[in-house]
Amino acid sequence: MHEIKIHQVEDKASVYRELIPQVKSLVEGEKDATAVLANVAAAIKETFGFFWVGFYLVKPALSGSGEELVLGPFQGPVACSRIAFGRGVCGTAWKLSESIVVDDVEKFPGHIACSSLSRSEIVVPLKTGKKVRGVLDIDSDSVSTFDDTDRRCLEELMSIICSIIWETEK
Ligand code: SME
Repeated sequence: MHEIKIHQVEDKASVYRELIPQVKSLVEGEKDATAVLANVAAAIKETFGFFWVGFYLVKPALSGSGEELVLGPFQGPVACSRIAFGRGVCGTAWKLSESIVVDDVEKFPGHIACSSLSRSEIVVPLKTGKKVRGVLDIDSDSVSTFDDTDRRCLEELMSIICSIIWETEK
């Protein structure tokens, strides 16, 4: 039986410090991307109670040319299925190949509103070497939920997850 148990809840750095090794052992030994990402989304959602936690993966575009982000495992309300390169916060994080913290989504030009309740957001790319495989997207229903601690800790967690899923592909 697997359960995520957090004891130190005083500050989020200590929550992440307990969460990261538990998520690592939860998904270790599993190579299927859907299974791993589904459990990671559930573990983050359950621990912090964020409004929406999920993944978009880089896949062939519906148009038949190029690639786009396609909705992957997530927890929360229904969301947009596809996001173009450079569009919204997710598409911009893919394009820049770096994490983006948005304090107020209404002030982010081109933000894609999947839900009117979403107020702030963090997007962290999933990378193997320089290649972006997808993004982790977390939305909050309050403004200014995410800061540098979330960015640093989620980047660490995504780097572990990517090496588990895409171990041999660089
Ligand atoms: N807010 C995202 C779109 C995805 S949903 O919020 C789940 C964006 O602007 O990239």
